[in-house]
Amino acid sequence: MTATMTGKIAVVTGGSSGIGQAACLRFAQAGATVVLAARRAKEGEETAQMIRESGGQAVFVQTDVANSTDVTTLFKTCLERYGRLDYACNNAGIEGTIVPLAEYSEADWDQVIAVNLKGVWLCLKEEIQIMRQQGGGAIVNVSSVGGLIGFPGLGPYIATKHALLGLTKTAVLEYTTDNIRINAVCPGLIDTDLADRFTGGAESEAEQFLMSLKPMGRRGTSAEVAEAIVWLCSDAASYVTGHSMVIDGGLMTI
Ligand SMILES: NC(=O)c1ccc[n+]([C@@H]2O[C@H](COP(=O)([O-])OP(=O)(O)OC[C@H]3O[C@@H](n4cnc5c(N)ncnc54)[C@H](OP(=O)(O)O)[C@@H]3O)[C@@H](O)[C@H]2O)c1
Repeated sequence: MTATMTGKIAVVTGGSSGIGQAACLRFAQAGATVVLAARRAKEGEETAQMIRESGGQAVFVQTDVANSTDVTTLFKTCLERYGRLDYACNNAGIEGTIVPLAEYSEADWDQVIAVNLKGVWLCLKEEIQIMRQQGGGAIVNVSSVGGLIGFPGLGPYIATKHALLGLTKTAVLEYTTDNIRINAVCPGLIDTDLADRFTGGAESEAEQFLMSLKPMGRRGTSAEVAEAIVWLCSDAASYVTGHSMVIDGGLMTI
């Protein structure tokens, strides 16, 4: 990390596990105070506790990002406690059921869109309003290599991850003059619960196939993605906006 974030405030959604938890820990390591959101209270509180035990500051706010009232409460809590918002990582996401498009149920479709797309938009709305008023900030949306390519069985997930890149670019065109930088990250297969649910685990056929396509031949770690998220938010990335950063062990070279 090339810049200190001491005195800065970061909101991370989906901070109860995986990439979001790693981002919370990395922001805190850089000196930022972390406001983390997720639905699972026990796991969310654990992330906050990990940060506090290592000398940082963090608060967990139980939030369903698909619920606009919850999202409003999240940012209200952030402002009431800390008075500002410098960085945001819109990371919460679900893979949905894994079936071909024509077999997708409407309820499952709606759920993936609600969390992965509407949830990010609801958060962006709040983040942008706060950052405009205070004179700037930096936001990272967590897309996926699934935002760049198709993948069988993951129709709505793939659609939302593509959409996030469009949302990111449009937000840049609308709010760069407000001194807000907005980027996206596109991770490949990262070692989290979601990856296990998706492939069926490290020994599964799907995993072996994906690994055969990756020049690095391994899953990435949440910490490797968190490093990029925090760098994109930092002043070290002051001329970087509208970028979709691929962090995939070389998968997209195929
Ligand atoms: N792992 C990969 O291979 C990979 C690759 C590319 C992109 N990604 C993206 O990375 C992000 C994080 O995924 P992960 O791999 O770290 O998986 P994960 O461990 O399952 O984390 C997902 C996080 O999202 C939160 N979440 C889900 N639905 C939510 C909701 N409605 N409201 C608030 N929080 C919600 C979960 O918390 P609660 O359950 O407590 O709500 C959890 O903290 C996702 O957007 C995913 O699409 C992952």
